[in-house]
Amino acid sequence: MKRNILIIPGDGIGQEVTTWGKQVLESIAQKYNHEFVFDEAIMGHTAIEATGDPLPQETLEKAKASDAILFGAIGHAKYDNDPSAKVRPEQGLLKIRKELGLYANLRPILLFDELLDASSLKPEVLRGTDILFFRELTGDVYFGEKKRNEDNTFASDLMNYHRYEVERIARKAYEAARTRSKKLCSVDKANVLETSRLWREVVQEIAAEYPDVETEHMFIDNAAMQLVKNPKKFDVVLTANLFGDILTDEASQIAGSMGMLASASIGDGTGFFEPIHGSAHDIAGQNKANPLASILSVALMLDIAFGLQDEAKAVTSAVADTLKAGWRTGDIANSSTPQDKILGTNEMGQKVLEFIK
Ligand code: IPM
Ligand code: MN
Repeated sequence: MKRNILIIPGDGIGQEVTTWGKQVLESIAQKYNHEFVFDEAIMGHTAIEATGDPLPQETLEKAKASDAILFGAIGHAKYDNDPSAKVRPEQGLLKIRKELGLYANLRPILLFDELLDASSLKPEVLRGTDILFFRELTGDVYFGEKKRNEDNTFASDLMNYHRYEVERIARKAYEAARTRSKKLCSVDKANVLETSRLWREVVQEIAAEYPDVETEHMFIDNAAMQLVKNPKKFDVVLTANLFGDILTDEASQIAGSMGMLASASIGDGTGFFEPIHGSAHDIAGQNKANPLASILSVALMLDIAFGLQDEAKAVTSAVADTLKAGWRTGDIANSSTPQDKILGTNEMGQKVLEFIK
């Protein structure tokens, strides 16, 4: 199979982790006889520095022309401490999501047994957890009109949803639920928000098309609590953009670390694969970042974008074998991890390569 893959390292640790995602893709291409052609493009703070634009036209064109995109991370502390900055790295990510129509963000909470003791939650609470989040990605308060009055005494972000936006993500989530344990939990705040009442109404309608799937509706505050109390009760979770952003960071602690969670953003065109973690400027360039989220994003790319299930499994198994052999990056080590088992980004990436069959 021949495929064109665009790598967008982005900011901070993005470069270090996508390097390993790319190496894994190269190894898979060689072992399974595929031709992956790579190109690279800039986005975020890196792109602002180079061109003044967080998403240069050239990057967008390359993205649209590619078969899949592997993205690293976005953001810079400089902007976090300067809320008045008009041009911001994150605008690049939001714009590319919108432009590519990436309305469905799949975030699997993949829990490796070897990492049961990496979480601050009890192993018996975690064991057996397997959740797939469907976070809506191109609507909600992220894209509604933003306002600030002249004397800076008032600001507003408009939260809105169109029926079709809820319908299409709900269908994707229900299709996935059918292939899993046929349980779907839709998370909203329908006791307060009008957008959530529309959300719930539409989900109820779509649910009727999938009578074989058991549907539950839950308020976001309750869901946030249940997720740490008893994560096993969840299977497919369907939710809006902002709620999904927050819930999946919380859920990353089930998997042991933000450094373990991969995601797939899909829609009608090119798919976009990225870790859920940020640019982590505090450890950037120090060979400390966990490359596994980027490598697991590659597994999602192989599976979802290219339909290469065996190859995707080979990547996930290589990650599992690396962990079974006791190798850890700092974020997934604990006080009983032997010092000589704690590796840097590059050494960890190298281990995974060695385990690819
Ligand atoms: C994520 C990130 C982004 C988001 C930021 C960087 C805009 O937190 O992908 O979860 O909020 O969607
Ligand atoms: Mn986030």
